[in-house]
Amino acid sequence: MKVDKDVQLTDELRQYMVSHGTSSGAVAQELIERTHALGQAAEMQIPPEQGALLTLLAQLLDARLVVEVGTFTGYSTLCLARGLAPGGRVVTCDLSAEWTDIARAAWRRAGLSDRIELRLGPAAETLASLPEEPDIDLAFIDADKPGYIGYWEQLVPRLRPGGLIVADNVFYGGAAVDPSAVGNASAFRAFNDHVSADVRVEQVMLPIADGVTLARKLPLSFGGMS
Ligand SMILES: C[S@@+](CC[C@H](N)C(=O)[O-])C[C@H]1O[C@@H](n2cnc3c(N)ncnc32)[C@H](O)[C@@H]1O
Repeated sequence: MKVDKDVQLTDELRQYMVSHGTSSGAVAQELIERTHALGQAAEMQIPPEQGALLTLLAQLLDARLVVEVGTFTGYSTLCLARGLAPGGRVVTCDLSAEWTDIARAAWRRAGLSDRIELRLGPAAETLASLPEEPDIDLAFIDADKPGYIGYWEQLVPRLRPGGLIVADNVFYGGAAVDPSAVGNASAFRAFNDHVSADVRVEQVMLPIADGVTLARKLPLSFGGMS
């Protein structure tokens, strides 16, 4: 007999879940509210349960170097920075000076500015400028969807064995499952296939928020720089 273990996430259950996860703090809450005031763009911000997950993953990995693709107003960056090991840093990149000005102000208020290095410009250029050694403990991809496979290919060789790539929006609102998908949904289909065919990693797709893939680089990986 098939047992259905999936639970429909109602608003009430979601509130319950968030209230039982670790809070990312008062400044993070202010930042969520400040971002909401931007209107529709606020949809780009990850939800609090995903923020708590990022903090926990950074802590579990004892992360000294975190790379984030897609800063926006800096909430996910703040969550990653909170989980860093002493002396660790987050390198985060975005195209928008306007949105990242909001981020910088929040990081300052949270006392995390000295742990965060913001690079403004196309993410592919920022990633290409990083050292080619496998030093990254944790990477978070949350930017332009057609860019994901390219970012993946730039990040995997730079990830330390046992390091983790977290990719956001892999369900793309559920559209990633549709074989006739076009546009961003089709980009996610290609990305998800790319990740599951990659022998350098072992991965799991989690039904949190809009779907999140966690991919751990295998200790003995083939190809790339390690
Ligand atoms: C979904 S938002 C990131 C949300 C953020 N992680 C958070 O939780 O608050 C995506 C961001 O990627 C940025 N972006 C889009 N294309 C980019 C590119 N080619 N290089 C760098 N950043 C890019 C956008 O400006 C936007 O701020």
